[in-house]
Amino acid sequence: MSLSANPAHFVRLEDLSDRELEDVLDLATRLKRGVSRTDLLGLSVGLLFFRPSLRTRTSLEVALHQLGGHPVNLNAASDFWELEARDARLMDGVAPEHIKDAAAALSCYVDAIAIRPALAGKSWAVDRQDEQIQSWVQHSKVPIINMESALWHPLQALADLMTLRESLGELQGKRLTIAWTQSPTPSSPAVVHSVMLAALRSGMEVRVAHPTGYDLDDEVLRQARELAKARHTTLDTGMDLRSAAEGSHVIYARSWWSLQTYGKGSLAAQRGARQGTWCVDDSVMELGDQTRLMHPMPIRRNLEVTDRVLDSKHSLIIEQAANRLHTQKSLLSLLLRH
Ligand code: CP
Repeated sequence: MSLSANPAHFVRLEDLSDRELEDVLDLATRLKRGVSRTDLLGLSVGLLFFRPSLRTRTSLEVALHQLGGHPVNLNAASDFWELEARDARLMDGVAPEHIKDAAAALSCYVDAIAIRPALAGKSWAVDRQDEQIQSWVQHSKVPIINMESALWHPLQALADLMTLRESLGELQGKRLTIAWTQSPTPSSPAVVHSVMLAALRSGMEVRVAHPTGYDLDDEVLRQARELAKARHTTLDTGMDLRSAAEGSHVIYARSWWSLQTYGKGSLAAQRGARQGTWCVDDSVMELGDQTRLMHPMPIRRNLEVTDRVLDSKHSLIIEQAANRLHTQKSLLSLLLRH
């Protein structure tokens, strides 16, 4: 897949070649400095949310307005209904419409469709297949943009790469620690998967700290190990927080579900994890090398990361949020001008 494919879908960051990724980040930097573009004049983009969003929805709507385009915002909870993703089903269940038909119809009206699909939340083996977004890709005549599926959050990874470069300059050889944090409302590992691959692709040394039972997706880890080898860097997983933070340039905090006990929120593994110390505080930050703190938000203060760290000059979380706008404008410009 690439930006020049027809239609060009953006489901994971790896859909961009190295050259295209550089183009997106270069244009994002120019847009942030105030360059004005109206590449989307007369174009409309559907934003379909099957789960809530604060940043993704707002930054994409504003990005479209600033590029001269028009967002069509559709919330599954209030504006339409569940859609069936599986083919050849007797559709006598909850969903009154198949993605095949919804995608064909919407392709007549809009120039791209961005989707944050629902997660069934019962089986990781099922959710990890990203069936809904893959069905949209299969049936849409216009580009599909992933606004966070079970497996990937490429829009977040784009903004995070821009933020990392702004803060650290050259990323080759810099150390990024992804730190699992405690939260009663964890997320899918989508952000962490995308950021891990983006950092390895940039030659960063990546460590992942998490409690026992919170390993990332097996297949994504296999891809990450291959990438680390290809980019002559390292990946260490399953570390404790303090060992992983030692010498790190960046700590990327995020809470994610145990994939071993996915869909069974009250199991012992999750209770056990909460007993440990999985909060990023000053003592963790001080183990690193002028460590910066990143987190995609929403963030639970003093549970995942302390106020002192979040309100310090080392926190990049608002820069990350700001860069969502610039990178998404850049991506939309380059994706839709084809
Ligand atoms: N980081 C992120 O995607 O935020 P939202 O869930 O608010 O969109």
